[in-house]
Amino acid sequence: MSTLLLIHGPNLNLQGKRDSAHYGTKTLADIEKLVASGAKSAGFEVKSFQSNHEGALIDWMQKEAPGSAGIIVNPGALTHYSYALHDALLDTGLPAVEVHLSDTNSREEWRRRSVTAPACIGVISGKKEMGYLEALKLLISKLEARS
Ligand code: DQA
Repeated sequence: MSTLLLIHGPNLNLQGKRDSAHYGTKTLADIEKLVASGAKSAGFEVKSFQSNHEGALIDWMQKEAPGSAGIIVNPGALTHYSYALHDALLDTGLPAVEVHLSDTNSREEWRRRSVTAPACIGVISGKKEMGYLEALKLLISKLEARS
């Protein structure tokens, strides 16, 4: 079974306790279950990882990318300034889809810019947890088009 990587950046461990108007009410475990069951019905398994540390996210990605098929990533605030994460995503050589629970374009000015998006095939924003299923659909359609 092919493997998809699901990566969550800083503060996403607090899902369910953060501002629900922006981030919804689901916990990270709920989101991981949602993605895993959607992926399973399409024949993929999901490996998930969350860290509040940029380097830990990069180390995990470098370790897991070989042999994996694609990436769904919510880089949290790293979205807006982490060139290291951008490069790490690109260096995996895998198609990646960026997800944001909140609508980053309708919030503070600084959230509008994503430095990681250019390393991704698409960005889904503002659909709370349902955005992850949209990202999964986009990623799988890209993988199926390649094979
Ligand atoms: C976020 C948006 C980021 O701006 C923010 O720093 C987050 C979560 C989102 O999912 O909406 O932590 O990535």
